[in-house]
Order: sequence, then structure tokens, then C-alpha cells
Amino acid sequence: MCGIIGYVGKKKALPILIEGLKALEYRGYDSAGIAYLKNNTIEMVKSIGRISNLEEKVIETEDSYMGIGHTRWATHGKPTENNAHPHHVGKITLVHNGIIENYKELKEECLAKGYTFQSDTDTEVAAAMIDMVYREEKDMQKTLQKINKILEGSYALGILCEDDTDTLYAVRKDSPLIVGTSTTGNYIASDVPAIIKETKVYYLLEPNEIAEIKESEIHFYKEGKEIEKEKKEYEGDASVRDKMGYAHFMLKEMHEETDVIQNTLQAFPTFDASLTSYKKIQIVSCGSAFHAGLVAKSLFEKYAKVPVEVTIASEYRYAPFLTEKNTLVIGVSQSGETADTLAALKLAKENGIDTLGIVNVKESSIAREVDKVIYTVAGPEIAVATTKAYLAQVTTLSLLALSLAYEKDNITKEEYDTIMHDFSLLPTKVKELLNKNYKEIAEKIYQKEDIFYLGRGVDYALAMEGSLKLKEISYIHAEAYAAGELKHGTISLIEKGTPVISVITDTNLKEKIVSNNKEVHARGAYILVITNTDIPEESYDLKIELPEGNPFTNPVLAVVPMQMLGYEVALLRKCDIDKPKNLAKSVTVE
Ligand code: G6P
Repeated sequence: MCGIIGYVGKKKALPILIEGLKALEYRGYDSAGIAYLKNNTIEMVKSIGRISNLEEKVIETEDSYMGIGHTRWATHGKPTENNAHPHHVGKITLVHNGIIENYKELKEECLAKGYTFQSDTDTEVAAAMIDMVYREEKDMQKTLQKINKILEGSYALGILCEDDTDTLYAVRKDSPLIVGTSTTGNYIASDVPAIIKETKVYYLLEPNEIAEIKESEIHFYKEGKEIEKEKKEYEGDASVRDKMGYAHFMLKEMHEETDVIQNTLQAFPTFDASLTSYKKIQIVSCGSAFHAGLVAKSLFEKYAKVPVEVTIASEYRYAPFLTEKNTLVIGVSQSGETADTLAALKLAKENGIDTLGIVNVKESSIAREVDKVIYTVAGPEIAVATTKAYLAQVTTLSLLALSLAYEKDNITKEEYDTIMHDFSLLPTKVKELLNKNYKEIAEKIYQKEDIFYLGRGVDYALAMEGSLKLKEISYIHAEAYAAGELKHGTISLIEKGTPVISVITDTNLKEKIVSNNKEVHARGAYILVITNTDIPEESYDLKIELPEGNPFTNPVLAVVPMQMLGYEVALLRKCDIDKPKNLAKSVTVE
């Protein structure tokens, strides 16, 4: 969600900015723009839609060695060129990720001082405010120090000032920003993969720190004093930006799932988190990470006998805070930047509750906020719809539930070993599932407008993820229902040929869901079951047979075909699979 790139150095800036913006596409955006210095004047180019539209307007060979770029995911105002970043006010040009919460008051202040506005954005107000303070201070470092106290909300800003034609400024609060460095110049970016083709070496800008970046020097300031910062090196390489022959990043990432499971199993002995002292667990997360939490709830409660509440982070943060001591709050997040999950965890911490993060991106805001962190080892994920990272979350949480069940003597050593052995077989089984033909099934459903997913217990949590995967990339209306709830409304929506996808891995609830399937079947539904249990043939139309599993490994097995099916359906509908409309990978605003 909104991406920032910036460069100052010896190389021509425009190719670096455009390449950076392309690398940031995965975060989700609906317009883009760049500003660059040419002959001591700032030039701007903006465009709505894809980066390719911007690219057509830009002459990449321009003699420019400094500039900033931005992908905008509209919040304040429609995705128009006027609202696209950069915004230019007076001597200031800037790009912004985040939301300035007090922009209305600030706008009044600026209007009173004679500023006028061309866009509906909070960002243009920030630009005006910086210009106003700069005219008093006549020094960017002092200006930004003051600005840190004036702006409320979350922001990462990349700034050019007309008077400093060799310097790029950056400042952040809550929204992420890194400062990269190489022998040919220095960079700012929302994440390292955006500049991976230029450098792997970077500094992590912390809240309220100011970076003053020139061609061959970088200075950092905090509260008016220059500070030293530690250089870091990114572990990944440029292959994260390469589809490696796959048609889409989503497909590539699903095919990486076997390695993800392998890597998670290898990392398992190093998990630094015994949960035995907690009487209760609360899981806070959003989207697929919320669904991963629901799978975990079922395993923790059934086998580790600990009560688990799973709450959508945006609800948790505004609900009355009733969490009792001896509760562990677990935040699950791929990006580690989801604003609501971060806020929920901060709230728990402020109230003296222990927090654990299950996070994919190293040193992300959530990873640094929580008391303890377990990193999922999915590697960078580019497709907006998460697949391998969700799988890593489910595997990690299942292993945690298993080890807690064992530590509490709820399962024997023998049972534990058998389950672990099953985990070790998962990569082969997942590979088998990935290689099945889902196109034929997709052909049967891709023209439908409504599809229902059913499940009970853990299978309901899985159905929720299956339905999300389908709707987010194919734009088919898909809903998941707890199968027992059908009769209380949903069944009236079933018509002849309505696809119903039914997940059945829980053998204890098998008979119940088979009855529910028969109920919709009798009303004309076309039933696809995803199962590794024996069910009567007359209760379905089509079956995806899952390899044998146990309650801890079944969730992983069941979700793979649903991810693949979503992909194939979206392919048939000719959707932009890796960059679904309106969606963002990293949701840094609430
Ligand atoms: C966005 C993504 C989803 C993701 C959710 C939570 O909506 O498109 O794929 O599940 O955010 O993101 P997180 O990074 O916190 O896991």
C-alpha cells in the first residue's frame, strides 16, 4: 500500500526510479508518479493506472541524478493524476506513505496563510506545512524536526527541497522506510526488494529519525543531534523479483510451498517460545493471517487445552480492553506492517500483556514491537494474494500447538513423534497436490457469479481462506459458511448449479457436513468436496482427494488445492492475478 522510492547518485535517476516503482507494484496501487531534478529545476510526471502508463510518459535518459517516486493506493481522494504523488508546494516536493490524521486542522492553518491546494490529499497538506515551517527555519533538518511534532498519524516521507539541489530528505513515523547505500549512490525505499538490483546494504530508519542523503554521504538525526546507525545487509537476492519461468508470482510462490514447509520444520527447534505459563491466548491479525489464527485456535484448544480467541485486529483495537493477565497476545502478519495488527499489539503491550509476533518480514514494525518474535520462513512474497506465507503461518502455529500439547502432557511422546513424522512427509504430499490438474475443475465454475464454501470446525477456518483466495483474485462473489449455519439463511441463495465447495478433513464432524452437503445438493447445488475421508458418493458431484494427514497437517493439505483452484479460475477470467484491483499487499493504513 503506497510505495516510496528515491535516489541521489552518480547514475541516471529515472531508470532507477522506474525500476523501483515496478518492484513496489506488488504492494498495491492505483496511480504513480515521479519528481526529479533536472538543470536545478524539479520536474514531475504522474499517471493513473499501471506503472507502464507512467513509463510511456517518462524519458528515462533525462539528465537527472536525483529524484523520488511513488505508487499511490488512494485514501484521501480518487485515483486521479491530481491526487497522485509527488506533491509540490512552494519549495517542497514530496511523496508520502501513511495517513496524516490532523490534516484538516493543518489545512485550515495553511489556507489562512494563503496556501492553495490542487488535490484532495492529506499529503499536499503535509507538503504545504513543511514549506511553511521551512520558510521560517531556512534549514531542512530543523524543519523536519518541527514537522515530526506537528504531523499526527503515520507517515514515511521522501522530500526534495528546491534550495538543496544535492540532497534528498527522509523522515518516518509508523510507516516503514529504509535508506539504501551503494558505491554509486544512495536510496530511499519502502522495502529493500525495491532497490535489490542496486544494493543489499541499507539502514533502517526508525520513527522520528531524519535522513539527509547526498550522492556519497548520509547523515541521520534524532531530536536535533546527529546519530550513528548500523548498516544492515538484506539476506535475499534479486531472484525474489524474478518469476523464474512461472506465469505469475502467485504460481511461483505456491510452488515454493514445499520448501517453505521444509524450512519451517528446520526452524522449529529454534522457536523461542514456551507457552505453558499462559492461561489464555488471543490472536490478532487481518485477512489470511486472521484465517491462519482460526486454524490455530482449533488445534490449540483441542490438543493443548488452552482457550484461544481470534479477533480481527481492526476490531480488537477499538473494543473494550478486557484482556486478563496470564494471556498471551499473538500477532500474525506476513508483512509485519499491517497498521491494525500493529496497533492491536501496541495496545496489549501498553496494558502489560505479553506479546508474540509470528511475522514473515525481518525487522518489520510488528517484529520490533512485540516481546518475542518467531519468523515464518516463507521468504519474500510478491503476489498480493498470500499463499506460501499463509501456509508458513499455519505450519508454524500448528507446530507451536503441537509442542504445547506435548509440554502439557496432553499427547504422548509416541503421538508427538508420529505427528512430526507426518509433518516431514508434507513437502512430498504438497508437491503431489500442486501437480494435480485444477484447470478442468476451474472450467466448471469460472463463469459463476456466486460460490459458497462450507466447513465445520477447522474446516470452516479453511473454507474461509479458500473463499478469500477465490474472491480476491477472480472477483467472483465467494462466501464461506459454517455448514451448520446454512439453514439459517444461506440456503435460500442456493440455486440449480450454484457451486458449493465443501472442505472435510475433520473425521468427527464428517457425518454432519455430509448431511449439510446433501441438503444443498437436493436444492440443485453443484458440490465439490475437498477431503481425505471416505464420504458417500451421492453426497457430491466432484471430489479433490487429499493425501492422508492428521489434524495438525490436514490444514496445510486442504488449503493447497483451494489456492490452486482460485488461481486457475482467475486465469480463465483473465484477471490481473498478481495485482488484483483495489487490493494492497502491505496495508499500512487503518
Ligand atoms: C492484505 C493482504 C492479505 C493479508 C492481509 C494481512 O489484505 O492482501 O493477503 O492476509 O493484508 O496482511 P499481513 O501482512 O498482516 O499478513
